[in-house]
Amino acid sequence: MSSFVVVGGTGRTGSRIAERLTAAGHDVVVSSREPAGAEAVRLDLAAPDPAVFAGADGIVISVEPPKDAADAEAVMHHGVAAIAAVAAREDVPVVLVSQIYVTRAAEHPEMAARIEARARGEQTLRDSGAQYTIVRPSWLHDLATGGVRIEQGDTGEGRISRDAVAAAAVAALFDPSASGKTFELYDDQESPEPDWSTVFAALSPDPESADL
Ligand SMILES: NC(=O)c1ccc[n+]([C@@H]2O[C@H](COP(=O)([O-])OP(=O)(O)OC[C@H]3O[C@@H](n4cnc5c(N)ncnc54)[C@H](OP(=O)(O)O)[C@@H]3O)[C@@H](O)[C@H]2O)c1
Repeated sequence: MSSFVVVGGTGRTGSRIAERLTAAGHDVVVSSREPAGAEAVRLDLAAPDPAVFAGADGIVISVEPPKDAADAEAVMHHGVAAIAAVAAREDVPVVLVSQIYVTRAAEHPEMAARIEARARGEQTLRDSGAQYTIVRPSWLHDLATGGVRIEQGDTGEGRISRDAVAAAAVAALFDPSASGKTFELYDDQESPEPDWSTVFAALSPDPESADL
């Protein structure tokens, strides 16, 4: 049994991640800005307390960015950077649920500031020395999972079930072959249900430059 912190574990994807970890027999700490229940702890990613992660065997971040640009920068860049530093120091894996469009913010001017903050957070995580995986969902939905298409390079469009994102995030937490990799997820009825270890092994490692 291991112990994991899910930042954003009250959210629709984060709660699915927490449920999968709990079902697999692990201890799970869910963090929230307004925690409720014995397993929940208070944490605002704008000013994360490193003590929350003491003793954790892994960390998942699945946090919705604030709309305000400065707040998004504080949460999605500097907050992610702080957790990346903890993960690097403690040598534990961290999985970041991000989004598609990270390299093409100009296509979505209404979200550009949030996306750019995310991009800086992603790159800081890559540069941190932590074991990391970055999962970039396309537009999320709550319908059943079917086939999943996995891409790299952030060129696609589409939708993906939160269940599939949770499955990918949890699998990545336990699979060293997912470390140092960034990928996008899309529903695709033509594709099989993923065997995640095979998927991760086939992905290209992230290059040591930005703009993935
Ligand atoms: N909606 C889409 O189509 C889409 C597409 C691609 C990617 N994504 C991304 O995928 C991830 C999961 O999305 P979702 O729709 O499942 O999320 P969600 O249900 O909206 O949950 C968001 C979570 O973020 C947490 N949160 C918000 N601000 C926080 C802060 N400052 N510090 C700590 N936690 C904070 C919330 O926790 P508390 O309120 O309890 O603090 C909540 O648990 C998010 O990163 C989202 O942006 C979404």
